[in-house]
Amino acid sequence: MNDFFNKDIISIKDYTRDQLENIFEYTDKMMALDPIKRREICKGKTLSYLFYEPSTRTRLSFESAIASIGGNSLGISDISSSSTQKGESLGDTVKIMSIYSDVLVLRHPLDGSSRFASEISSKPVINAGSGTEEHPTQAIQDLFTIKKEKKKIDGLKIGIVGDLKYGRTVYSLLSGLGNYDVEVHLISPESLRIRSDSIYDIKKKISFTESTDIEEHIDDLDVVYVTRIQKERFPDEEEYLKVKGSYIIGLDLLQKMKDDTIILHPLPRLDEIATDVDKTKNAKYFQQAEYGKYTRAAMLGLILNENGF
Ligand code: CP
Repeated sequence: MNDFFNKDIISIKDYTRDQLENIFEYTDKMMALDPIKRREICKGKTLSYLFYEPSTRTRLSFESAIASIGGNSLGISDISSSSTQKGESLGDTVKIMSIYSDVLVLRHPLDGSSRFASEISSKPVINAGSGTEEHPTQAIQDLFTIKKEKKKIDGLKIGIVGDLKYGRTVYSLLSGLGNYDVEVHLISPESLRIRSDSIYDIKKKISFTESTDIEEHIDDLDVVYVTRIQKERFPDEEEYLKVKGSYIIGLDLLQKMKDDTIILHPLPRLDEIATDVDKTKNAKYFQQAEYGKYTRAAMLGLILNENGF
C-alpha cells in the first residue's frame, strides 16, 4: 500500500523528506504519462471542494487535476449560495460533502479548520489553506518547482520576501524546506516579520536570517520567493497602508540578482512583481502554477489508489 492511500493532507509537517521525494517522483511520472492512460488513474472518482475563501489556482488546479486523471468534481466555491447561509455548521457541511465524494478539498479562514474537518469527514480531507497556518499542497508545488528548475534543493540560498506574518504559504514552505539543507533569508517589513511561535520547530532544522532590506542578500540568492501583502488578514486597514508596496521586484532589482536566480510567487500578485519581469527567464511563477496541477494530480492519484499508479 502506498503511504498516502486514503490519508488526509493537513500539514506539510506530517511528511518526511522521503515522502516528499516520493510525491515528486509520482509528479514526474504523471507529467510523462500519455493523457489517455492518465485518464484511467481515478476513473469514476469524485472530488468535492468547499471554499470559504476566494481562490483561483488552488480550486481550479484541483478541478483540472481530477479531470485529467478521469475523475469528476463538485463543490461550493461561493459559500453565500450554500446552506451555510441558513446557519449550517462546518461540521455538518463536511459530513454531507464527504457522503457525495471520495476526497474533500477544504479552504477555510480558521487555523485548525482542516484538522477539524478530517476528524468529521468519512473521506480523506485535503487542506487547501487554513487561516494563516498552512497551505500544504502549495508547499509541495513550491518545492517541486524549486527541484525542477534548480535540479536540486539541498545547498540552495532561498530568500522569502513580503508578508511573512500572515502568508500561510510561507509557513508550509519553511516546514517543507526543513527537510533539506538550505540557507534561508527572510525579508519583510518590521511589522510583518515571521511569527516566531509558529516557527519554533523550523528554527531547529534550518538556519535563517531576518532583514527588512531586500538588497542585503539579493546578489547571492538562488531562489527569490515573493509573497503578497495579505490585506484581508489585517485587523486595521491603516496598518496595511503603511506596508503596501514595501517590496517591488522590477527589472532594476533583477539586474542585481544572479543570472540563474529564479523568482517564484504562489500568486495572486498585486504590485510586488512588475509585469515586465514576466518575460524574463528568471520568472517561474506561471510555471509554478502549472506544476501545481501535476503535483495535485499525483497526490490525488496516490490518495485514491492503494497501489499508486
Ligand atoms: N496560490 C493560491 O493559493 O492561489 P489561490 O488563492 O488563487 O488559490
